[in-house]
Amino acid sequence: MMFVPHVIDGVEQESSDGASFPSVDPATRAPHASVALGSAADADRAVDAARRASDEGPWPRMGFAERGAVLHRLADLVVAHTDELALADTTDMGKPIDDARGKDVPRTAQNLRFFADHARLAHGDVLPMDTGHHAYSRFPPAGVVAAIAPWNFPLMLASWKVAPALAWGNTVVLKPAEDSPTSATVVARLALEAGMPPGVLNVLHGYGPDSAGAALTDDPRVDRITFTGESATGRVISAAAARNLVPVSLELGGKGANLVFDDADLAGAVDWSIKAVFTNAGQVCLAGSRLYVQRGVCEEFVERFVAAAGALVVGDPKVTGTQIGPLASEAHHAKVRGYLDGVERSGGKIRAGGEGEGWTVTPTVVLDAPPDAPVQREEVFGPVVTVTPFDTEAEAVRAADDTRYGLNAMVFTENLSRAHRVAGALRAGTVWVNCFFVRDLRAPFGGMGDSGVGREGGDFSREFFTEPQAVVMAIRPDDGSDVR
Ligand code: NAI
Ligand code: MG
Repeated sequence: MMFVPHVIDGVEQESSDGASFPSVDPATRAPHASVALGSAADADRAVDAARRASDEGPWPRMGFAERGAVLHRLADLVVAHTDELALADTTDMGKPIDDARGKDVPRTAQNLRFFADHARLAHGDVLPMDTGHHAYSRFPPAGVVAAIAPWNFPLMLASWKVAPALAWGNTVVLKPAEDSPTSATVVARLALEAGMPPGVLNVLHGYGPDSAGAALTDDPRVDRITFTGESATGRVISAAAARNLVPVSLELGGKGANLVFDDADLAGAVDWSIKAVFTNAGQVCLAGSRLYVQRGVCEEFVERFVAAAGALVVGDPKVTGTQIGPLASEAHHAKVRGYLDGVERSGGKIRAGGEGEGWTVTPTVVLDAPPDAPVQREEVFGPVVTVTPFDTEAEAVRAADDTRYGLNAMVFTENLSRAHRVAGALRAGTVWVNCFFVRDLRAPFGGMGDSGVGREGGDFSREFFTEPQAVVMAIRPDDGSDVR
């Protein structure tokens, strides 16, 4: 069986005590790899390597152009290793291979290139003061970044953290999710090949609580913690960060509302709404899992939506053409099934789907679930959508905002003023109008309420991954010259 090692200080290695854990392929429900199980001692070594690379190594001291060139070479290598990286994620967590190859790998390369260029081209501020001084801003690296990644987009979401951290001159300890360890080790290997110095990108495997994850977030030598995952975990990590007074960026759960007005282009709305909730089998923080449809078009929308959901290809994620693979783990499958089993008890009914072999769940449409039903309130993180009719715009906005989450929302309408009005009224970090998932990497990305703390992307990532510094200079008055 394949062994997935840590990469610490440029060396692929086992855990110091030799411990390991299995990575299970959700398609076969059997282990396919053995993974180094990091302990507190391994976390200590990883932070130590990152600390030394930050305090003494060349990486923070290189120019942006030189660092950027390494990141661009890494992006090239990521693209050249598309098959290996895509298969790693698909085998670890069951995402369709077409998505892994066609979306996750290219987006990973794009993240590396974008943040390399963004850092190289960024401006600081110069503040001409009228008191005989001037001030300017600098953006030195924060130091050592602990990046804790989830399993739903293993490669892509890890790169969303690692790329800006590295571009701004930090060193990193990346702890991938225990359900999706493999691609991170491959990327760390490729980073060395691209010319990144040892200790700059370290990968530490293991679990969260009482394991590698917690040891990492508790280490006082860490300068920044960036985390994507469940809101409950975000609270625990935030408390660890508070003990060391370390800034933390949290991208947490979501319960995206998707509002379809009766003036919408219905075919487009159906198409995007399907993608919004069934991509990656719904294991997406941005999933549009609550559909609200204006009453006049609701019946027709549901007919078309159910037909489109039923046409999605469910099957083996390693086979090209598959659109819905199994859920990522046995525990996660049990959690999603628990929500489906509770639908009728809470007053809703399953209009379509809700079946599936092994850890697969077929695309599921739930009708009539009351607003307080768990399937309406909690992040299911599976291919499950509730559909609720509404009458007025105000009612739609109220329903959309009736959640503890606030990551994203979608609006489908052909009415320009309504689009702006509703987008402005929604409490969500991102609002998509007549589209979904489209990203400009300069835009703020993050959530309100239980969906997170802070924003990343473009200048927002710079702010988090640097220690912005002000330099204020006195301009001395004339000492004999006649310049005024
Ligand atoms: P999780 O939030 O527990 O795990 C995410 C990462 O955090 C993993 O790398 C894990 O090892 C690490 N971690 C967990 N506890 C930690 C701790 N105390 N200190 C440091 N690191 C820690 O998510 P999990 O258990 O994989 O999935 C649970 C549920 O969370 C899912 O069923 C899903 O509903 C939701 N989820 C949401 C995501 C999102 O993007 N909104 C992503 C992943 C999961
Ligand atoms: Mg967990």
